[in-house]
Amino acid sequence: MAEFYNIQVKDIYKETKDCSVVTFDIPENLYEVFRFKQGQHLTLRKVINDEDVRRSYSLCSSPLDQEWKVAIKEIPGGVFSTYANTELKAGDTLEIGAPSGHFYIETEPETSKNHIAFAAGSGITPMLSIIKTHLIAEPNSTFKLFYLNRTVKSIIFKEEIEQLKNQFFGRFQVFYFLTKEQRDIPLLNGRFNAEKLQVLSKTFIDIEDTNSCFICGPQDMIFLIRDELEKAGLDKGKIHYELFFSGNSEEENKHIAEVLEHKVEGTDVTIIDGGKEFHFIMEDEYDNILDGALAAGADLPFACKGGVCSTCKCEVKEGTVEMKVNYALDDKEVARNLVLSCQAVPTSEKVVVDFDV
Ligand code: FES
Repeated sequence: MAEFYNIQVKDIYKETKDCSVVTFDIPENLYEVFRFKQGQHLTLRKVINDEDVRRSYSLCSSPLDQEWKVAIKEIPGGVFSTYANTELKAGDTLEIGAPSGHFYIETEPETSKNHIAFAAGSGITPMLSIIKTHLIAEPNSTFKLFYLNRTVKSIIFKEEIEQLKNQFFGRFQVFYFLTKEQRDIPLLNGRFNAEKLQVLSKTFIDIEDTNSCFICGPQDMIFLIRDELEKAGLDKGKIHYELFFSGNSEEENKHIAEVLEHKVEGTDVTIIDGGKEFHFIMEDEYDNILDGALAAGADLPFACKGGVCSTCKCEVKEGTVEMKVNYALDDKEVARNLVLSCQAVPTSEKVVVDFDV
């Protein structure tokens, strides 16, 4: 069962024209529940126009600050992000789930490491937490940030980043890339592309000496950077990334259509959650186990419903399902029969899934 807590908004301000930063007032008796790692996210929930709307937002504060802060960028037509940017105010209450996510590595105070990070737009949110935490907790480590935005004005957390540069002078470097404004250094103009990454990995990045790389942004950018850095010699295990969902590609849509062809109608589904069983028959109008179960009255954890956050993951105990998309589970998890229920199309007449994983 998804557990949410009523939490008050302590402070909210506009970081840029279309991005609000929200600080939550976590009561002391919930400090343990809300303890988090740099790079993790919170799931926020609000009933808006009779709809149970949930969204995951990365924490941008460091766990070392004992502060819970997220940045919410307004997306045109986005139900939750529009509400947060136009209506939400200090003193309001939201339902919030405990922090989760795997976009982090442990800090190692005794070592001296060289970390690098690539972020685009609001992809800076988890990165700010990660950078700050490593720089504080690892006094001998360095961090280089390659940060892509449209214009200088649209750079989220510019001021805070500049402060970090001063605070960690000599250990933290930032390279701003802009797509809609031209500057004197051609390398810093425009999006990341293969050519640019090849130049970066021969100049600003010492591949041999890089211990970890964090990437956050749209899928195409992530995979491009990952592949180019791997080609340049960076070990796959050192590359960590978090996807910001930005729509399916043509190839993915083709895959989804194929998966839906395998769908079995009227599957008899058993959900195990909190040690209890819940049975229902999938209605034809739903194509995935999560939606089918929610419609049948189950209370299950979910956030993005886009195959990104993994909040809805479960283990297939019996029967078969196929996932439409999967941006969250790695090969090992898939081999363990874990699936994202929001993407799991039943392909057998009976399916048993366990959410206690
Ligand atoms: S709800 Fe986010 S992956 Fe399913």
